[in-house]
Amino acid sequence: MEQQVNCRVPVIGEQAPAFTAETTQGVIHFPDEYKGKWVILFSHPADFTPVCTTEFMTFASMEKEFDRLNCKLIGLSIDSTYSHIAWLRTIKEKIKYKGMENIEIDFPVISDLKMDVAKKYGMLQEATSDTQAVRAVFFIDPKGIIRALLYYPLSNGRNFQEIKRILIAMQNSDAHGVATPADWQPGEEVIVPPPGSCGTAKERVDTADQEGITCLDWFMCFKPLKIE
Ligand code: BEZ
Repeated sequence: MEQQVNCRVPVIGEQAPAFTAETTQGVIHFPDEYKGKWVILFSHPADFTPVCTTEFMTFASMEKEFDRLNCKLIGLSIDSTYSHIAWLRTIKEKIKYKGMENIEIDFPVISDLKMDVAKKYGMLQEATSDTQAVRAVFFIDPKGIIRALLYYPLSNGRNFQEIKRILIAMQNSDAHGVATPADWQPGEEVIVPPPGSCGTAKERVDTADQEGITCLDWFMCFKPLKIE
C-alpha cells in the first residue's frame, strides 16, 4: 500500500509551528530564539543539485540586506548535516555563478531527515515527491505569525528580489497602515486604506489634496511613503 505523507500547509494568520532542529549552525529552537525578528524559513529539494545551488548562492549573497531588514534566514532539506556541510563547502570552494564566488552560507540549514519540520510546514507534497521538499518559503513576523507563503516546483528557482520586495512591503504595511499596489517597489506610492463609511469617503475626497493624497476615485487613493 502506498504510504500517505501526513503534511498540512499552515496558512496566513496562523502561529508558525514551533520546532527544535539540528542545523549547520547547531541546534535551533524556533520561535524562542527568533522572537522580535522576521524569519524566512525556506525548503529546497536536495543538496548538490544545480537549481538549489543557484538559490543558495543568491540568498547568501543577500543575507546582509535581510539582516538590515531585521530578518533571519533558515534553510531546510531532507538531507543530513554532513551532506549540507559538504555541499556548502563545495559551493564556497568551487562554484562561480553570475559574478558570485567564494560564497559562504552562514545562515542555518536544517537537516530534516525525519521530515518533522517539513511535515509541519507542508513542504512535503506527495503529488510531487515523498522524499524531497518542494521549494516553500514562509515569511514569519516578529510575533511568530505566518504572514505570507510561496510554493514553487522542484524544477524552477525562486525570485529572491520578489522575496525581499514582499518582505519590505509587509513591513511598511505594518509600520504605516498602508497597502501596496501591484508590482510596488520601495519608494513608490502606497495605497491609503479605503474609507469605511459614506462620511469618511466624502471627507477623504474633500481633503485629499491638503493631505498629499491622490485619489483616482473615493476608494482608490495613493500617497507617497518615504522609506528609511
Ligand atoms: C535542482 O535543484 O536542480 C533540482 C532539484 C530537484 C529536482 C530538479 C532540480
